[in-house]
Amino acid sequence: MKILHICCDPKPTEESVCKQMATEFFSAAVATNPEAEVINVDLYKDPPPYLSYEAYRAIWYPVYIAGYHPTDEEKAAAAYAADQAARLNDTDVLVLTTPMWNFSVPAVLKAWFDMVISPGYAYEMENGEIRPSHHIRSAVLLVSSGEAYKEDDPRDALTPLVRAVCSHIGIADISVAWADGQDPLLFKDCEPRKQVALEAAREIAEELSES
Ligand SMILES: Cc1cc2nc3c(=O)[nH]c(=O)nc-3n(C[C@H](O)[C@H](O)[C@H](O)COP(=O)(O)O)c2cc1C
Repeated sequence: MKILHICCDPKPTEESVCKQMATEFFSAAVATNPEAEVINVDLYKDPPPYLSYEAYRAIWYPVYIAGYHPTDEEKAAAAYAADQAARLNDTDVLVLTTPMWNFSVPAVLKAWFDMVISPGYAYEMENGEIRPSHHIRSAVLLVSSGEAYKEDDPRDALTPLVRAVCSHIGIADISVAWADGQDPLLFKDCEPRKQVALEAAREIAEELSES
């Protein structure tokens, strides 16, 4: 089983709740399935470029202009998308580790989506239909936030975004472990909340390994 881990928190693990969830998740995943191969992509160490006009042309012109062949310059601008899509299309499980920033994901993860979740890379377009290029069977979201959000809270733009992105490319199975209420000034029980989320991350990893 191959697991692609996309992580986008600039803080060190000892200061980052979502990274601690990732540590818990991967230690359980590897303990349950010693054959698991984990590929780590740290978006703060290897940041995605914002989609440029050249990269846009490389990715999207072939969809709309029959027979369009990107120039070498356009291909070079989309090289990050090609490199990351090769990893995406060679994994069984996708894990996204992220804090909530301004009700959504940090800009680096949005930039990764804009580059990689694209036609010719994560999927092909056929007669207006999306045909996934990957074989991902499950996605896992490990998320932390300062405030507490009930299910379907209209302020939460993060989990709907991640669910929509996964659904768009045909990943139906998405598990979420969410350490919310992590602002110690707002929540005296932030530590027990974190422990519940760590346990949830571990359980998801064990279930993944069994499936
Ligand atoms: C730039 C920024 C924006 C944030 N926006 C939100 C927000 O919209 N909602 C929220 O609940 N917490 C927000 N927070 C708080 C973080 O989500 C919270 O500190 C979380 O525990 C960080 O996770 P981490 O410890 O894994 O980095 C924000 C923090 C930062 C730095």
